[in-house]
Amino acid sequence: MIAIRTEQEIEVLRQANRIVAEVLVALVGMIAPGVKTRDLDAAAEEMLRERGARPAFKGYRGYPAATCISIDEVVVHGIPGDREVRPGQIVSIDVGSHYMGYYGDAAVSVACGQTDARRRRLLETADLALSRAIRAARAGNHVNDIGRVIEQTCREAHFSVVRAFVGHGIGESMHEELQVPNFDAGSPGPRLKEGMVIAIEPMVNMGTHRVKVLEDGWTAVTADGKPSAHFEHSVVVREGGGEILSVPDSEWVWGRREN
Ligand code: MF3
Ligand code: CO
Repeated sequence: MIAIRTEQEIEVLRQANRIVAEVLVALVGMIAPGVKTRDLDAAAEEMLRERGARPAFKGYRGYPAATCISIDEVVVHGIPGDREVRPGQIVSIDVGSHYMGYYGDAAVSVACGQTDARRRRLLETADLALSRAIRAARAGNHVNDIGRVIEQTCREAHFSVVRAFVGHGIGESMHEELQVPNFDAGSPGPRLKEGMVIAIEPMVNMGTHRVKVLEDGWTAVTADGKPSAHFEHSVVVREGGGEILSVPDSEWVWGRREN
């Protein structure tokens, strides 16, 4: 059963996700050459707890940190540690919260300072793919409409979409029943209904879509070592398209490009 959430439940999910979005905006502001990923993680955990939330990732299947910080060739699930951010690198930050019984989950990728044209294009494409995917999260559409538009957007830009990880339903668990592939899965999948809540999270690679997981059991890197970008929003399926829950109170929001 794919849950249909009441407006009261959605309001708590909005609060859980707003906390995540505010932490993400603060972390983006901390990105600078020489910053250690463990310092970003410590700041995130403190901000989550200050806001009354528990870091949802910490302890999840043994994951050791509050955030995933994935630099350049790391696709997702980078474990914060001694690695320092260097100028021009793509830094992906993924944060989860558990608040009043509900989960928040979102991620954003940015470059550290100026970067090259290819990396800029990769970031723009992944963000655009998320934006179009959110528009496709409309009642009456099917799950595969989301994957199709993501894959098409990335293919047009000559980038590839990771197939090894998918988006997911989110609510009283971080990962709920619905799987949300970022590619054309070849069949429509479940029909989207108003009140379903899903985390859409395209991972877009400059080179091959293939990934490998390092010996730590988490860190997923591109098989060719080329850079990758990851954007994620938790959204409610609505009649006119997805409503983003992971929005901060501040003005800057990713995943809202118009085309
Ligand atoms: N956004 C990711 C996901 O939905 C983050 C999970 S990291 C983990 O799967 F450590 F919690 F697994
Ligand atoms: Co997620």
